[in-house]
Amino acid sequence: MNLIDKSQTNILVVDDDTSVIASIELLLKQSGYQVTSALNPKEAIAKLADSTNKEAEPIHLVLQDMNFSRSTSGKEGLQLLKDIKSKYRTIPVLLMTAWGSIELAVEGIKCGAKDFLTKPWDNRQLIRTIETCLQLNLSQDPQPTSRRQLDERFDFKAIIGEDPLMLDVLSTISRVATTNAPVLILGESGTGKELIADAIHNNSSRKQNELVKVNLGGMTTSLFESEMFGHVKGAFTDAKFDRLGRFELANEGSIFLDEIGDLDPTSQVKLLRILQDQSFQPVGSSKTRRSNFRVISATNRSLNEMVANNQFREDLLYRINLITIELPPLRKRRGDIGLLAKQHLERVEKLYVLDTITIEDEAIRWLENQPWPGNVRQLTQTIERVILMTASQTLSTGDFVSIAGKDIGRNKHSFDNSSKDAGSEIQAGNMTLDEVEKLMIVKALSAYKKNITKVAEGLGISRSALYRRLEKYGIDL
Ligand SMILES: Nc1ncnc2c1ncn2[C@@H]1O[C@H](COP(=O)(O)OP(=O)(O)OP(=O)(O)O)[C@@H](O)[C@H]1O
Ligand SMILES: [Mg+2]
Repeated sequence: MNLIDKSQTNILVVDDDTSVIASIELLLKQSGYQVTSALNPKEAIAKLADSTNKEAEPIHLVLQDMNFSRSTSGKEGLQLLKDIKSKYRTIPVLLMTAWGSIELAVEGIKCGAKDFLTKPWDNRQLIRTIETCLQLNLSQDPQPTSRRQLDERFDFKAIIGEDPLMLDVLSTISRVATTNAPVLILGESGTGKELIADAIHNNSSRKQNELVKVNLGGMTTSLFESEMFGHVKGAFTDAKFDRLGRFELANEGSIFLDEIGDLDPTSQVKLLRILQDQSFQPVGSSKTRRSNFRVISATNRSLNEMVANNQFREDLLYRINLITIELPPLRKRRGDIGLLAKQHLERVEKLYVLDTITIEDEAIRWLENQPWPGNVRQLTQTIERVILMTASQTLSTGDFVSIAGKDIGRNKHSFDNSSKDAGSEIQAGNMTLDEVEKLMIVKALSAYKKNITKVAEGLGISRSALYRRLEKYGIDL
């Protein structure tokens, strides 16, 4: 846990409205922070300069308004931000803007602000944002980098990987998991984004509560509100009962917004609104509800490109990407392929109650040299298929080449990512009918522990028909 000593933390609040200063000062002091205030940019710069004196209290964070009385364009606010960032690079700056001027906040983020809040602010949200920001700043310290060191302190057991690129990812998770910072996970299909989301949640202080997973890719505009915010009885024809939305279910826990790049523009605005202040109204209700959730998002699309093409809102991007984790494709961490292959081999053995199977070193070398456009998912599906299709206990390069060789460079889009787990390798276009038949026989043999009568019964064929097929496919008992 990155603990902040609030009594030793001094926050500079800059706003030209004395009543705003007074209420924020009160709020922050009640939370235990020290507060310094300034009514205009000049005063703010002077206070920052003072704070560097030996005896003075240093400033740890700046919370600044963007609009000062002389102009409402936000120019002064931006200039102040730039001045602070050029002289005091390490002090995090949070911006406050009116809801209507979010573009200004987005520009501010580009100039180095850490995050932004919209006015009128929500007290809890303000405190949480400040805390996250301070925690992230604290955890810039060097982190353990070896896999062993990471495993001693965090639960990463589901994640296989020792490549430096993966260690960077794990070390970032270790740095941010305990904060409330929103995390955006990017990476090609099958690189393990969902696994990383699980790891973030499981290593956070929210782990006792739920990680609610939502696939936004499959969500129509009309469904979005009732699914995410819930609805009350009678809100529409089919609403026979009150129903909690996903955000409410994620209260005190986390919400995983998967395939966020697929969200349509109307839903993007609705999502932005709830992410601003964590409050929402269920469909058919006029009462505002709140939920305290942590947001983890993922997509295999390039959100930056989508922003450039006006397909994804830039302000929404900045709301979700305080921390961005980029998962490397498998071909950029070939050293992990052997580890992944062996681990999956064991899983398949257990799943189908098979005898111990080994894999030849040469076959591992071969696997390491394949392109794997479908990444880890494709690798694990290939291993599973080869195990079930060969009768041998030792997998050789030949087994892989003859069974899966032609498919490995296939376009990644032909990998069906709805069949994610072991046991679901059959996909249209992936196998011939003969292959499917052989696979079913192998599965039945293992399920019925090679009891021929039961296997034949289970497959709905006679014992002699089963023997004929065993011979046809060269399956030894
Ligand atoms: N580092 C890893 N260690 C062990 N298993 C992994 C690893 N990375 C991925 N996997 C496995 O690969 C499969 C695909 O992972 P996951 O579903 O997380 O991918 P994804 O990036 O979300 O893909 P998509 O974009 O298609 O949704 C899962 O079965 C997952 O358990
Ligand atoms: Mg996924």
